[in-house]
Amino acid sequence: MKIVTVIGARPQIIKAAALSRAIREHYSDRIQEVIVHTGQHYDDNMSQVFFDELGIPHPDYNLHVGSATHGVQTAKMIEGIEQILMDEKPDFIVLYGDTNSTLAGAVAASKIHVPVVHIEAGLRSFNKSMPEEINRIVCDHCSTLLFTPTRAGLDNLVREGFPIDNVGPYHIDNPKLYHCGDIMYDNSLHFSGIAEQKSDVLKRLGLEGKPYVLATLHRDSNTDQPERLNAILDAFTALSKEITLVLPMHPRTRKQASGFQADNIIVTAPVSFLEMIQLEKHAQLILTDSGGVQKESYFFQKPCVILRPETEWVEIVETGAATLADADTNKILTASKCYLQQPPVDFPAVFGDGHAAEFMLEKMCSVIFP
Ligand code: UD1
Ligand code: UDP
Repeated sequence: MKIVTVIGARPQIIKAAALSRAIREHYSDRIQEVIVHTGQHYDDNMSQVFFDELGIPHPDYNLHVGSATHGVQTAKMIEGIEQILMDEKPDFIVLYGDTNSTLAGAVAASKIHVPVVHIEAGLRSFNKSMPEEINRIVCDHCSTLLFTPTRAGLDNLVREGFPIDNVGPYHIDNPKLYHCGDIMYDNSLHFSGIAEQKSDVLKRLGLEGKPYVLATLHRDSNTDQPERLNAILDAFTALSKEITLVLPMHPRTRKQASGFQADNIIVTAPVSFLEMIQLEKHAQLILTDSGGVQKESYFFQKPCVILRPETEWVEIVETGAATLADADTNKILTASKCYLQQPPVDFPAVFGDGHAAEFMLEKMCSVIFP
């Protein structure tokens, strides 16, 4: 079986590590993976560092699309991916999440009848002003195999009319849903001990034995609206009067808040994945608008203040381990102080068993070799 995997943005590169690892360890005799990097993220600390650190094979193709408006970026990706699919003739294209690279892969493949596998299917914010919401809806509805990481993801697809108990042969008009757990959980379990051994980030940032809060910020709805950005940065500054705050800054945020600094805030360039999970594991609290970082907070049993009005990861809010605080300075501070005084203790398993990648590969194989 031949699959073409499309990656482009940081979280997709990280997710791809889990699938590539499972292919290498268990399926190298049955599955050939061709990796296409769209080039959506291109700085070394947004891309190359993950290949170096996580054992992901070097991409077979790089489209070098880079940054542009949504239309220009997506169109260039569609053109490049279509040509590769025509040349490679894979059994499946594998797409992750909800970025413009995901959208481009879904449109390119479905139009020329290459079956789409969507990993992280079914997530919804119910907020179509998010570019990601459009991307995930289109990708789900172009897919043949849909792997949902959470129960809420599965329920959303059923509500949209996807059948739950259909039988093969599967195709775009007879798609198959699988509820399988989260591939990022596979990675967090796998790399947690390795990060502890290999990463010296706590020492490098002067954080050894010191309580701190970890924050990340990159949603366009937060970075590109000055009043929202300022409200969040004001909350960071106020919180830093009580506890050190560490902020690895995404390049989109750097563009809008390059001068941001405060006494007890450590602003760094984006860190590697091993550094990031080490920072997450040792933090008292995590503040973020990132999808991946929300989940990792939960994996490592840390409270999370979500800097958005809603989340796709509703389970973590329902358990009380995370709170929606939007870009509201008071809400962010109140929720943070509450969690620092009384951390949550209940983290029921909602993201599967850490073997999502093997499950997905087994299902893909069973469709091709029934
Ligand atoms: C993208 C995804 C978002 C995901 C995020 C992960 C879309 C629509 N958005 O958002 O869902 O959560 O990646 O991080 O696909 N830039 C650099 N260097 C880089 C990459 C980007 O400087 O290597 C800067 C550029 O100024 C660029 C901006 O960041 O214009 C935004 O990059 P882009 O890939 O368009 O969107 P993200 O905000 O990264
Ligand atoms: N991450 C990282 N370094 C950083 C910030 C985040 O390695 O400086 C990792 C993080 O651990 C998670 C992923 O990047 O696995 C999340 O990506 P991001 O926040 O860019 O996007 P999202 O998940 O919101 O789409």
